[in-house]
Amino acid sequence: MLICTVVAARPNFMKMAPIVEELQRRDIPRHLVHTGQHYDAAMSGVFFDELGMPAPDFHLGVGSGTHAQQTARVLTAFEDYCVEHKPTMVVVAGDVNSTAACALTAAKLGIAVAHVEAGLRSFDRSMPEELNRIVTDHLSSLLFTTEESGNRNLCREGIDSSRICFAGNCMVDSLRSHEQEALRRAPWKNLGVEPNGYALITLHRPSNVDCEERLQALVGVASRIAMQMPVLFPVHPRTREKLFRLRIHAPASLQFLDPHPYLAFLGLMARARVVLTDSGGIQEETTALGIPCLTLRSNTERPATIETGTNVLVGDDLDHIENLVDQMARGEWKKGTIPPLWDGHAAQRVVNRIEASLGGVRWTGPRIHSARLHGLRPFHRCNRTR
Ligand code: UD1
Repeated sequence: MLICTVVAARPNFMKMAPIVEELQRRDIPRHLVHTGQHYDAAMSGVFFDELGMPAPDFHLGVGSGTHAQQTARVLTAFEDYCVEHKPTMVVVAGDVNSTAACALTAAKLGIAVAHVEAGLRSFDRSMPEELNRIVTDHLSSLLFTTEESGNRNLCREGIDSSRICFAGNCMVDSLRSHEQEALRRAPWKNLGVEPNGYALITLHRPSNVDCEERLQALVGVASRIAMQMPVLFPVHPRTREKLFRLRIHAPASLQFLDPHPYLAFLGLMARARVVLTDSGGIQEETTALGIPCLTLRSNTERPATIETGTNVLVGDDLDHIENLVDQMARGEWKKGTIPPLWDGHAAQRVVNRIEASLGGVRWTGPRIHSARLHGLRPFHRCNRTR
C-alpha cells in the first residue's frame, strides 16, 4: 500500500497536515507530493515548519501561470510521479487547480482518488474553484465531506452515497492543535493593536481584486472602518500586484502587511473584533473560533458557517458592510455554534475510512444514509427522479 498525499497552495497545508500526521502515526507507507503551485516562503515554506509537516518527498515545481498552463504542468509532472511510484491511492484536498489536475491524472491511470473537503458548491461557475470542485468530486472514489450541505450536493449530482464519508473538517483539527501556541505568541503586540480591538481583512478572489473599481471600493470601505478601529490587512500576492496599480489614500490605522505565517494569522484571527474576507477557509476558521465574519462575496460554498456559525454574506452592497460593522461593534452579533464533526478528530475518520477501503477492514464510522440526506434518495433513485 502507498498513499500519496498532495499539497499545492496555502489553503491545502492546514487540511492535509493532520492527515499526514495520522498516516505517519499508523505507519502507513506514504508520500507527500508538493506541486509547487504556491512556492515562496511566505505562501508555502513557513507552513511546513509551523504545522510540523515533513518536507515533501517530491516537489513538482509547477509555479504560476494561466489556469491552463498551471493545470497542464501539474498533469504532466504528476503523471511522471504516478507512473514511477504507482501509489495505491491519491489524496487531494480543497479546490485549487492542482487538486483537479492531480485527481484527473490519477483517475486516468486507474488510481483511486480520495477528495478531502468534497461536495462544497457555491453554484457559481464563474469561480475557477467551483469548476475544480465539480471535476474533482466526479473523479473521486472516496469523498470526504465537511458539512451536511456537501452530502446533499453530492447525492443530488448522482454520486453513490456509499462513496461519501461525512468526516468533518480537517482544517479545524489543525486549528485546535495550534490555537494555544498561536495565542501565546500574541502576534497583535508587534502590530501595536489591542486584542479584540481591531478588524482583520483578507482579499484575493478574482471577483474582488481583478476589477480595479471593486478593489478600490473595498479599500475605501477598509479605510472608513479604520476611522473606528485599527484594520490589519495581510496582502495576498495576487492582490499586492493589483494594489500597486491603485492610488491609495488610506489612513495610517489601515496597515498593509505581508502574508502572515499560519500561527501569527491564527492568533490575529482569534483575537480580532471582526474579520472581513473572501477566503473559503477563513469563513470556517472564524466559525470555529466564534469570531464575527463578514464574507465579501454574494455566495458561499460553506453554508454551515452562515446557518450555524458566525458568518454573514455581504454581497455587492458595500454600504451594508459599514452598517454591519457598527452593529457588530454594538455587540449585536449572532453567537454561532460549531457545526457537527468540527471536533478536531476529522483526520482520524479520514484515515480510518482510507484504511478500511484499501485493507478490507470493516468501516465502523458514520455512514451517509438516505434518511440523513434531507429527503434525497440514494444514487440510483436520484437519477430516476431528475
Ligand atoms: C489559489 C487558488 C485559490 C486559493 C488561493 C489561496 C486556484 C484556481 N486558486 O489562488 O483557490 O484560495 O490559492 O492562496 O487554484 N504567487 C506568489 N507567491 C506564491 C504563490 C503565488 O507570488 O507563493 C503569485 C503568483 O505569481 C500569481 C498569484 O500569486 O501572480 C496568484 O497565484 P495562483 O496560484 O495563480 O492563485 P491564487 O490566486 O493564489
